[in-house]
Amino acid sequence: MIAKVRKAVFPAAGLGTRFLPATKAMPKEMLPLVDKPLIQYGVEECIHSGVQNIIIVTGRGKSAIEDHFDVSFELENLLATRNKKELLQQVRDISGMIDVSYVRQKEALGLGHAVLRAKELVGKEPFAVILSDDVIDSEVPCLRQLIDVYEFYGASVVALMEVPKEFISAYGVVDAEPVDHNGSKNRLYRIRNMVEKPKPEDAPSNLAIIGRYVLTPEVFTSIEAVEPGKGGEIQLTDGLKHLLRSRPVYGYKFEGTRFDAGDKLGFLKATVEFALKRHDLGNEFREYLRHLKL
Ligand code: UTP
Repeated sequence: MIAKVRKAVFPAAGLGTRFLPATKAMPKEMLPLVDKPLIQYGVEECIHSGVQNIIIVTGRGKSAIEDHFDVSFELENLLATRNKKELLQQVRDISGMIDVSYVRQKEALGLGHAVLRAKELVGKEPFAVILSDDVIDSEVPCLRQLIDVYEFYGASVVALMEVPKEFISAYGVVDAEPVDHNGSKNRLYRIRNMVEKPKPEDAPSNLAIIGRYVLTPEVFTSIEAVEPGKGGEIQLTDGLKHLLRSRPVYGYKFEGTRFDAGDKLGFLKATVEFALKRHDLGNEFREYLRHLKL
């Protein structure tokens, strides 16, 4: 029997240097897209994918994230007395639907190191990893798409996206062969190798790893076996490469649009797209954009 994915790890201890000065005192995961912090989009994706146990790896600015997912009696009381039922419901929904635990990464020693910090809380079961600065807009949640693959093969699976050659050096890139899946040959890949941030001429393909993973617990032993790379950082890609030696790892070209909200331009694009989709704001915002002299 293939074990169910019940837990999701949210590494949120990075320094967020691409978004300074906003991220000096606040984690980038708390930056709001329209009116919700980035991390909440990720948490909602988990809920809609059937995953309710959330493990957040925090660094600085821990209290802002904790307070966000905590019950705020003062705020709820105020909204109740002012009869703001809809807002009250929204505020309650956040804390009511999930079970959150926190673990600290004292020093930003890399994504692999951050995931390893969650080892005890995850235990010996498969789990998801969500990088909440990758915001994905899709009909079926991206994590659900990965869990479906995991449930079929019982193996680790990472989200893949095609990236033009000139931008490929910003990603982990896979060398992979297509696999027949659900009658199609252009979504699922069996990964042969992966390279972190290759030069365009060294990239083994145009398929980049995006911030959604479903991993089997053996990955922890693999991350532990990895030597720190540049700047003393332990990369998750190196851990996955090690895992490849003993287990199959799949890549799934997900259906949907991904925004890199950890980058200023990506964040602006996501803000515009998400605002235009909103029932309460979209029309007025569209009108406003139409009248801009561009
Ligand atoms: P990034 O590669 O975006 O790094 O991390 P960063 O430090 O957050 O941001 P920049 O590049 O300096 O602007 C990807 C994810 O991994 C987490 C981050 O919080 C982010 O969600 N991370 C990264 C950690 O939790 N710990 C680390 O040591 C590194």
